[in-house]
Amino acid sequence: MTAAVLALVLLSTTTAATATTTTTTIPPVQCTTAFTDVSAADFVARLNPGWNLGNTLEASPDEGSWNNAKVTPPVFETVRKSGFNGVRIPVTYADHYVGGSPDWAINATWLQRVSDVVDMATAQGFYVVTNMHHDSWKWADVTQSDANLTMIHEKFYASWLQIARTLACKPSTVALEPINEPPATTPEHGEQINILNQLFLKALADAGGHNARRVVTLVGGGEDGQKTAEWFKRPTANTTNPWAIQYHYYSPYNFIFSAWGKSIWGSADEEAALVADLSAVRGNFSDVPLLMGEFSASQVNCEASARWRYTDLLVKTARELNTSIMLWDNGLDNLDRPAGKWRDPTSLALILQSTTMPPPKNSLPLGTTNDSATTQSSSAYIFQRVGEPTTAQALPFLFNGNAVTSIVTSDSKLLSPTADYAVNSSHILFSASFLGGYLAPNGTAGRKANLTVNFSQGVSIPIEIVQWDTPVLASTTSVATAASAASDLAIPITYKGLPKLAAVRMANNTGGYLIDTWTQWLGPLQQGRVTYSNQYNFDDTHVILTASALGEVVTSLEPAVVTFEFYPRVPGNAVNYTLTVESKSIFV
Ligand SMILES: *[C@@H]1O[C@H](CO)[C@@H](O)[C@H](O)[C@H]1NC(C)=O
Ligand SMILES: *[C@@H]1O[C@H](CO)[C@@H](O)[C@H](O)[C@H]1NC(C)=O
Ligand SMILES: *[C@@H]1O[C@H](CO)[C@@H](O)[C@H](O)[C@H]1NC(C)=O
Ligand SMILES: *[C@@H]1O[C@H](CO)[C@@H](O)[C@H](O)[C@H]1NC(C)=O
Ligand SMILES: *[C@@H]1O[C@H](CO)[C@@H](O)[C@H](O)[C@H]1NC(C)=O
Ligand SMILES: *[C@@H]1O[C@H](CO)[C@@H](O)[C@H](O)[C@H]1NC(C)=O
Ligand SMILES: *[C@@H]1O[C@H](CO)[C@@H](O)[C@H](O)[C@H]1NC(C)=O
Ligand SMILES: *[C@@H]1O[C@H](CO)[C@@H](O)[C@H](O)[C@H]1NC(C)=O
Ligand SMILES: *[C@@H]1O[C@H](CO)[C@@H](O)[C@H](O)[C@H]1NC(C)=O
Ligand SMILES: *[C@@H]1O[C@H](CO)[C@@H](O)[C@H](O)[C@H]1NC(C)=O
Ligand SMILES: *[C@@H]1O[C@H](CO)[C@@H](O)[C@H](O)[C@H]1NC(C)=O
Ligand SMILES: *[C@@H]1O[C@H](CO)[C@@H](O)[C@H](O)[C@H]1NC(C)=O
Repeated sequence: MTAAVLALVLLSTTTAATATTTTTTIPPVQCTTAFTDVSAADFVARLNPGWNLGNTLEASPDEGSWNNAKVTPPVFETVRKSGFNGVRIPVTYADHYVGGSPDWAINATWLQRVSDVVDMATAQGFYVVTNMHHDSWKWADVTQSDANLTMIHEKFYASWLQIARTLACKPSTVALEPINEPPATTPEHGEQINILNQLFLKALADAGGHNARRVVTLVGGGEDGQKTAEWFKRPTANTTNPWAIQYHYYSPYNFIFSAWGKSIWGSADEEAALVADLSAVRGNFSDVPLLMGEFSASQVNCEASARWRYTDLLVKTARELNTSIMLWDNGLDNLDRPAGKWRDPTSLALILQSTTMPPPKNSLPLGTTNDSATTQSSSAYIFQRVGEPTTAQALPFLFNGNAVTSIVTSDSKLLSPTADYAVNSSHILFSASFLGGYLAPNGTAGRKANLTVNFSQGVSIPIEIVQWDTPVLASTTSVATAASAASDLAIPITYKGLPKLAAVRMANNTGGYLIDTWTQWLGPLQQGRVTYSNQYNFDDTHVILTASALGEVVTSLEPAVVTFEFYPRVPGNAVNYTLTVESKSIFV
């Protein structure tokens, strides 16, 4: 859609509005507070690194509806003290409308809450970005075949007029982002997102206060770097706002979201792809401040050594490309908000290097990176199976020119560099006598100890000593029915090592593929594997098959064998669960 149509839309909004309560003729907000102008480049540089208050104000239908309590100042205090300089506050407005067309009144209590939370963040000295979040698919999805673009434009402008009026007098440390990851699959959709950017800027100009001088982070289709590069149109010359571009990065999808058994990352090709992706965004916008407003390789589902190498390269590449980063955190991934503790201090330490120049060279644990491999190793762990002899173990590391300065246990015992371990140019070799203090053939399964390896520069790396055995399910079969497939199936499990799933395979009765048949073309660790969160999940005491996975089995009318696979991904570290269906038994 063209700018001419946009003008018509705004005209019709105004015309319609004159008949009822007008939005556009409300006098602009006047502020009594001063405003210190800041360029978009300075704003984006100063918020680095940033953190997302995820699954909180954008939860649906309300703050507190998902896994996080309503936010309180100590959360911001913890994040600030941890070393972050920016906070993104995603907000969903969809469930808070109290009026319809043409004014689309938002509940004043909700607007006040958003204002209060923004104040909590600025009070800690944060640079803040707030947005309109899940509205992108709840009512502002321009890709829907029945999308009423007139409504979307009208509601989007009316909403931003209200949000901008609410935040009009906030200081220049508060920036605005029009909309989170707006769906777009064609250039026409991309053009619609450009229209949304313009409507947003118009609303800011009309709202008054400091809004016309406030930094904005504009977006392209999906907030995807490539779509933004292809379709984003720079705002018109009359825009007074200092502007940056925000994009999100969750690539490769299969590694970040544990899809189709992809639990490894870090081949030369994969590293090159990450650098190329970020470079292409910078290449298209060489003169524009860039913010990667979301990224995250989660400690919940991404293997440790792969996750740290990924995070290291992402942080380093973004820094080299003058791109600021904000970590996505849904409350389960990174900061344990009630405890005020980071679940993965190593990733945190890597992310905090985003402002360090020159970049420190980190030493990183290596792991399997070959997608054709049949097993997966990781130098983040020393694994020994129950019943196997305790031998010396050599862990490959990418030392990056650094020396190992010390290795300490979690109870602060310093390891001997002669008796306990040795280091050569590519490995740390732990002696059998040292490991014998934790591991024994007749030992019990469990997480035995954590070591911290310190290097001459860069982050410290933990290594966990784990004795493992095949986990035990409380039951190994059940009947999948249409009724049972209405909800998730949580199967109690006794883990015998790391309490997490690495992958899940779903096969039909004859060992064939149940879903995602195309995965037959993938490597041995990925064939027939399904996707985390879509088909499976887990917690400390259960492995979980989702309703959607059960539904697939019920629909197939065939019994299915589900193989739950654990770390290390080696033969023997998997258990089967059989789902029979009502119409046919596995034994017919
Ligand atoms: C606005 O939100 C508050 C808090 O959720 C609620 O109590 C109130 O009923 C809402 N107002 C309207 C008009 O829906
Ligand atoms: C589309 O949205 C406009 C503005 O809200 C409304 O007047 C119109 O009735 C809607 N059209 C349809 C087909 O719903
Ligand atoms: C800038 O001008 C264009 C074209 O006249 C108009 O559509 C747009 O709303 C204006 N933007 C602002 C922020 O005033
Ligand atoms: C711009 O982005 C496109 C799409 O990602 C990419 O192919 C192209 O190489 C980029 N241009 C530059 C100069 O980096
Ligand atoms: C980073 O980019 C900003 C513009 O976004 C520019 O002002 C600044 O000079 C750049 N810094 C470096 C080190 O390239
Ligand atoms: C990956 O493993 C396959 C199968 O073992 C082998 O043929 C291939 O050369 C390996 N690729 C690399 C890059 O090591
Ligand atoms: C370093 O030690 C590992 C494990 O013992 C060994 O496989 C490797 O060949 C050694 N490398 C050198 C250069 O000695
Ligand atoms: C394991 O074997 C060692 C040596 O044979 C023995 O000293 C120890 O008591 C055994 N431990 C258990 C738990 O059986
Ligand atoms: C080692 O650290 C992990 C967290 O990474 C923790 O869950 C585990 O309990 C620790 N193990 C020991 C023996 O302290
Ligand atoms: C090793 O590094 C950790 C984390 O950086 C630090 O707390 C500890 O003091 C270091 N230990 C030694 C012996 O240098
Ligand atoms: C699990 O089932 C698969 C067939 O889907 C079979 O190949 C494998 O041997 C079984 N594993 C165990 C531990 O029973
Ligand atoms: C099992 O899946 C294979 C394809 O992977 C298919 O050829 C076969 O017909 C299926 N068997 C049954 C009983 O559905």
